[in-house]
Amino acid sequence: MAESPNGDPMAGRISRFADLKRNGTPVMFIDSVLPGHYRMNYAVIGDTASENPDFKPMMTAPHKFQVGMFEAPPGNGPGWHTHDYVEMFVPLTGTWRFCYGLNPDDPDDLLGEVVLEQWDAISFPPHLWRRFENASTENAWAFAVLDPHDHFDGPDPHWPDWMVRLAEEHGLRADERGRMIKPANFAEIEREITAKIYGHPAEL
Ligand SMILES: [Fe+2]
Repeated sequence: MAESPNGDPMAGRISRFADLKRNGTPVMFIDSVLPGHYRMNYAVIGDTASENPDFKPMMTAPHKFQVGMFEAPPGNGPGWHTHDYVEMFVPLTGTWRFCYGLNPDDPDDLLGEVVLEQWDAISFPPHLWRRFENASTENAWAFAVLDPHDHFDGPDPHWPDWMVRLAEEHGLRADERGRMIKPANFAEIEREITAKIYGHPAEL
């Protein structure tokens, strides 16, 4: 629904969780297919750095900031990466471990790590490498706010070379503008990852 100057000023500005849950993207990023990085991503506002061009933002009215949500199984979350802009996270359920450092080649060479509880918040500056995971025993949700950025204007997220190679071994890569190149069996991959996120075969 497009925002119309003569129509409903609230058009495209309400996101219901029940609708959002039906609009998840199981493979939004090239690392989404790697063990330890399974998660269901949701675009509430904007592209939320999606490499998959087929994300569905819940709010279609234009904003400058971007909001995403995601659900991950225990021990899973985004792999070692960074961005050219700020991204902030708020655990909505469960507890989450956030790790950060300066060395793209070693995700265990950390400047620090912190475990955050529900409704805590953490904001990463541009170019700091980070990874995080659901540190609780059940699937958990978190919320992300991203600074304004252009979509498919270059690689985003920035992944270390070793992560790019690992994803390629699983059939996924992105082009020089950061757009995912989907293999012929992408729908099958999405079903497999969805099953891993929920711990049971996906409903088809
Ligand atoms: Fe990120």
